[in-house]
Amino acid sequence: MKKNRQAIGVFDSGYGGLSVLNELLKSMPNYDFIYLGDNARSPYGTRSYDVVYDYTLEAVEKLFSMGCELVILACNTASAKALRSIQQNDLPKIAPNKRVLGVIRPSVEQIASLTKTKHVGVMGTLGTVRSNSYPLEIAKLFPDVHVTQEACPMWVPLVENNEVETDGGRYFIKKNIDSLLSKDSLIDAIILGCTHYPLMETEIRKILPDHIQLISQGDIVARSLKDYLFRHPEMDVRCSKNASCEFFTTEFVDSFEEKAGRFLNTSLIAKHIRF
Ligand code: DGL
Repeated sequence: MKKNRQAIGVFDSGYGGLSVLNELLKSMPNYDFIYLGDNARSPYGTRSYDVVYDYTLEAVEKLFSMGCELVILACNTASAKALRSIQQNDLPKIAPNKRVLGVIRPSVEQIASLTKTKHVGVMGTLGTVRSNSYPLEIAKLFPDVHVTQEACPMWVPLVENNEVETDGGRYFIKKNIDSLLSKDSLIDAIILGCTHYPLMETEIRKILPDHIQLISQGDIVARSLKDYLFRHPEMDVRCSKNASCEFFTTEFVDSFEEKAGRFLNTSLIAKHIRF
């Protein structure tokens, strides 16, 4: 790890957060980033609140110990199940001056401008769907928007195992899209409420009717983070800017380098990390 870096930490259970990191690197190229994928314990989406909270807190503490002042939970499941407790209960004790931000609120803020019918679909992990975080947040900001959710428990494993562009992958994508649209035919915008799903966007788009907008989180989160740092210059000055990005995984380094490198369209070096 490089010294004197106060990087922005980007955390996900596995590869999904790369869809957020990709946009962060494009829109904030001078900042330093550390990406941490907990591939060894992915998926989080089928795990209980306590387990997701414990894993996420461990990852946040690890990123803090590596010099991060600010951590983005680039994972809806962690944002849904752990963010609030970490912000309200843990941060004041372990690092009162550091910050942890999630991906759900910034995505919800965009909804009203993207739906005409005011019928929106949310696709996410079982954990995110069961937490009801999206319907609750949407109801607070846009009470007239009707939300229908669809849990897609097979989608994260498809991404983690490189099975998206296969007959099996397409079967599960179609199955969940058909199921969502059969519950509400007026849906004209779908939030991909899991950061893994943009890695499947090409296949999803092939199956989805053309009039339905797909809302994927990468650029939304990147814009929201830039705005946050603009509004919080005291935090911005604490984020170092040497245009670097380091990658850590809790599982096989070579698989991570191959897959992450393909997704980010660059070769990269990852390091193994244990909590
Ligand atoms: N990328 C995570 C999310 O946004 C995937 C969760 C999982 O590991 O199941 O929810």
